[in-house]
Amino acid sequence: MSQTPPPPASAPRSDAPSSGRLPSLVAIVTGGGSGFGEAIAHTFHREGAKVVIADRNAAAAERVAAALRSTGGEALAVPMDVTVSADFARLVDETLKRFGRIDVIVNNAGISHANQPMLSVPEAEFDRLYQVNVKSIYLSAIHGVPVFRRQGGGAFINIGSTAGVRPRPGLSWYNGTKGAVVLLTKSLAVELAPDKIRANCINPVIAETPLLTTFMGVPDTPENRARFLATIPLGRLCQPADVANAALFFADPASSFVTGSCLEVDGGRCI
Ligand SMILES: NC(=O)c1ccc[n+]([C@@H]2O[C@H](COP(=O)([O-])OP(=O)(O)OC[C@H]3O[C@@H](n4cnc5c(N)ncnc54)[C@H](O)[C@@H]3O)[C@@H](O)[C@H]2O)c1
Repeated sequence: MSQTPPPPASAPRSDAPSSGRLPSLVAIVTGGGSGFGEAIAHTFHREGAKVVIADRNAAAAERVAAALRSTGGEALAVPMDVTVSADFARLVDETLKRFGRIDVIVNNAGISHANQPMLSVPEAEFDRLYQVNVKSIYLSAIHGVPVFRRQGGGAFINIGSTAGVRPRPGLSWYNGTKGAVVLLTKSLAVELAPDKIRANCINPVIAETPLLTTFMGVPDTPENRARFLATIPLGRLCQPADVANAALFFADPASSFVTGSCLEVDGGRCI
C-alpha cells in the first residue's frame, strides 16, 4: 500500500490559517506553563502558530495546551526538563512527529535564587541556576540547530533579563546567568547566520509573574513594590503581554533581517 509523502518544508500547507502574523509556524516555548511563557504561547497561537508547550510542570503545560486548543488550532504539551539532553531530544522528536517542522524555539524556562547576599547562595543552587538558565541554551542548540539546518533556517528567542545588563544587588549569580544568555544569543547569531538561523534575546525588567517575590526578596507589599517601581522610568512592572509582544516581533518573518539583538522590555530601566 503506498503512503502519501509529507509535503516538503517549503511547500504551502493547506491547513494554514489565512490571517495572523505567524501562519502555521511551529514554535516550541519552554517554560510555557506559566508567566511569560504562557503569554508567549497564547500570543503565538492567536497569530496562527502551532505551539508546543514544554514545561517541567506537566499539569501546567497541559492546562495551557488545552486552553489554546479550546479556541481552535493546534497545541501540544510536552513535559520535560530543559537541563536534560534526552528530554530536549524527545521534545524535538515529538514536535517533528506531530507538526513536521520547527520554526521557532523560545528558550524561556528559567529560575532564580531568592534575593540575598551573594555569599549566602549554596553551591548546589548556583549549579542548578546555571543548568536551567544557561545549559538549556546549549541543549536547545545541540538538538535544535540540526533541524533548523535541514529546513534552511529557524529562529531562537532567548529570554534574558535586565539583570544581565544592569544588575541589582542580591541577585548576583542570577545576574551572571542572564549575562550569559545575552552573550550566547549574540554568539549563536554570528555563528549560525550562514545557515539562516537567527537568534535574538528579550531582556524584561521585574514582572508580575510567580517569580516576583523571589526577585524582590521581601514580601510583595505596596511599600516594597514602590522601591522597585522607583527604578523604572515608565513607572510600572513588566507584564507578560509586554514580553509576548516582543517575542512576536522576533518570531515574525517580518524581522528576518534582525539577529543578535537583545531588546530591553523594561520601561526604561536600563537607560
Ligand atoms: N518574572 C520576572 O520578573 C522576570 C524578569 C526578567 C526575566 N525573567 C525571565 O523570564 C523567564 C520566565 O520567567 P517567569 O517569570 O515567567 O517564570 P515562571 O516561574 O512564572 O515560569 C517559569 C516556567 O518555567 C518552568 N520551568 C522551570 N524550570 C524548568 C526546567 N528545568 N525545565 C522545564 N521547565 C522549567 C516552570 O515550571 C514554569 O512553568 C525566566 O527565564 C526568567 O529568568 C523573569
